[in-house]
Amino acid sequence: MEIKENISLKPYNTFGIDVSSAKFVEVNNVSDLKKVLINNSDNILILGGGSNMLFTQDFGGIVIKNNIKGIDIIEESGVEVEIKVGAGEVWHEFVMYCIEHNYGGVENLSLIPGNVGASPMQNIGPYGVEVKDLITEVVAFDLRDFSIKTFSNKQCKFGYRSSVFKASEKGKYFITSVTFKLNKQAKINTSYGAIENELQRMNISSPTIKDVSDAVISIRSSKLPDPKEIGNSGSFFKNPIVSEEQKDKILENYVDAPNYLQPDGSFKMAAGWLIEKCGWKGKRIDNYGVHKNQALVLVNYGGANGTDIFNLSEEIIKSVKETFGIELEREVNIV
Ligand code: EPU
Repeated sequence: MEIKENISLKPYNTFGIDVSSAKFVEVNNVSDLKKVLINNSDNILILGGGSNMLFTQDFGGIVIKNNIKGIDIIEESGVEVEIKVGAGEVWHEFVMYCIEHNYGGVENLSLIPGNVGASPMQNIGPYGVEVKDLITEVVAFDLRDFSIKTFSNKQCKFGYRSSVFKASEKGKYFITSVTFKLNKQAKINTSYGAIENELQRMNISSPTIKDVSDAVISIRSSKLPDPKEIGNSGSFFKNPIVSEEQKDKILENYVDAPNYLQPDGSFKMAAGWLIEKCGWKGKRIDNYGVHKNQALVLVNYGGANGTDIFNLSEEIIKSVKETFGIELEREVNIV
């Protein structure tokens, strides 16, 4: 294990922002992590795939990149399989492993950037499936007393793009593994309109999990920029949840505003639609801007700095607030 000094974090964040870190280390196991923490206890920043972060300044502490690997079957029957996955595994590679072995459940979550350890943190959830419905356990290292704690699904307190790791326990744990329960007799979920349309286009009427994964990959590749080509962090904002009255008020002026009833009677509005209506979609300022195919995604065309992108997000929040009275929240962490 090597502690590097003064290194650029550009290769370690999908936004491609070029800031530096005073120290940087990759840890492959808990004993490495303990050694690092004994000598560097304050000002640490834990990094997974760096796909949900916007760096706005150089970092004076130590970046600890979670590189804990491993995919282990812990229980298997004819119907189900329980798999424990190291937090440092790349999410999409894990999804591809599941497709290859015919373990169903994660196919709708194909091509999500980032690592396995980040999946419970923000309860990733595209195309009608949320990862919380597949997770049985999360094992984490307590940064305060160096103990190992196992969180049951319930203890993770999952919500829309959130969990205990993003809320009350934020910054207190280093996730080491996530355990998933997957189906060997897949229950395909194609309820999300875009998947149905894509499968139709592919001429597939009874899809396998591989077909669903291919459809998702095709939709995501057509709508979302590939971070290897254009720096971005996926959805920059969360979809806002509003009351029925607020939703009705918006519909009075905009009959086509997408809205989705939530179990508690509130409504989720599409942030991408709100931002587009405010005229931001495809807007480019120098080397950064709003993606042309999905207004939820802010992009770095190369060489942009994080503060400029942050300021753009402030302007977007302001204009959505002025037009619709809704305060957008960022999904991306600002560092
Ligand atoms: N829409 C617009 N303009 C836009 C974007 C969207 O009018 O620029 C409209 C769409 O036409 C649709 C509605 O808004 O009626 C919803 O759009 P979409 O289905 O693309 O989903 P989203 O709500 O914009 C969410 C996730 C994405 C995920 C998709 C697909 C959040 C914050 N984002 O986006 O997640 O891929 O659903 O399930 O919940 C990510 O987190 O990085 C991410 C890309």
